[in-house]
Amino acid sequence: MRVGIVGAGMVGSSAGYALALMGLASSVVLVDQNHDLAVAQAQDIAHAVPFMSSTIVEASDYDGLVGAKIVILAAGVSQKPGETRLALLERNAAVFKDVVGKVLSVAPDAILLIASNPVDIMTQITQRISGLPAGRVIGSGTILDTARFRSLLGRHLGISPQSVHAYVLGEHGDSEVLAWSNAKVGSLSLAEIAAQVGAPITQDVRALVDDGVRNAAYKIIKGKGATYYGIGAGLARIVKAIARDQRDVLTVSCVTDEVGEVRDVALSIPRVIGADGICADLMPDLNDDEHAGLVKSARLLKGSVESIAL
Ligand code: LAC
Repeated sequence: MRVGIVGAGMVGSSAGYALALMGLASSVVLVDQNHDLAVAQAQDIAHAVPFMSSTIVEASDYDGLVGAKIVILAAGVSQKPGETRLALLERNAAVFKDVVGKVLSVAPDAILLIASNPVDIMTQITQRISGLPAGRVIGSGTILDTARFRSLLGRHLGISPQSVHAYVLGEHGDSEVLAWSNAKVGSLSLAEIAAQVGAPITQDVRALVDDGVRNAAYKIIKGKGATYYGIGAGLARIVKAIARDQRDVLTVSCVTDEVGEVRDVALSIPRVIGADGICADLMPDLNDDEHAGLVKSARLLKGSVESIAL
């Protein structure tokens, strides 16, 4: 299976690196307006392959995307220290108005996987420009936030994050909602498991975890200028669900018919992902505060996407 990546910057190349090491694709093709960068990234990743897989990694122009089952869109600008994801909208929307058409002209049957921020709005813009069915236009959404949430809860409880089932919903951004009320470890609620392992989840713990999830990117960007390993692995995780038709439940962004009274908005909820993209939406049971937060996030995203002239 061929996977294309448009945008060979740190996010795109980290996704390519993860895909190559995991051996999830027979070939990975990097495309960038700076072709020299794409060539250098592809060569560097290709030198890692012999240790782990047999993936062919190369750089190309858009023609190299012919036959791609999935194309990751990671082109555009990324946050500067202190900059919100929403602040990137105008610049990245202009980039996508050029890129999406070029991709579909050579890979009309591809599933589009959007990474560029603000990812929810970029997902909705891509779906509108492409006219593809919503289930074939997937944004990485809160897959990384959910991983951060599970990682911090797992560390507090002394349990693998892979055994913590907790979700972050809504915007991949400041208005995201941590769904504490339905988080589980095994069949136990958070309160039950916390009591059993003697690690109570106090208000202070909740505040620390919320800050550690919601503001993770700002802190990492302040320290090293960008985030890329987490999102790169998150993108590879979505590719795995598609490539192997795994029917995994992941929080990804997709244009959703209705969230509260907000219609036709891209945001993240748990969704079933398989070979043809998104198979089903699994709107979770939320308490009143969480539901209100999700609707508020939906309203914010809807207002932002309507500000863009396509
Ligand atoms: C982050 C970027 C991918 O949250 O938005 O790290």
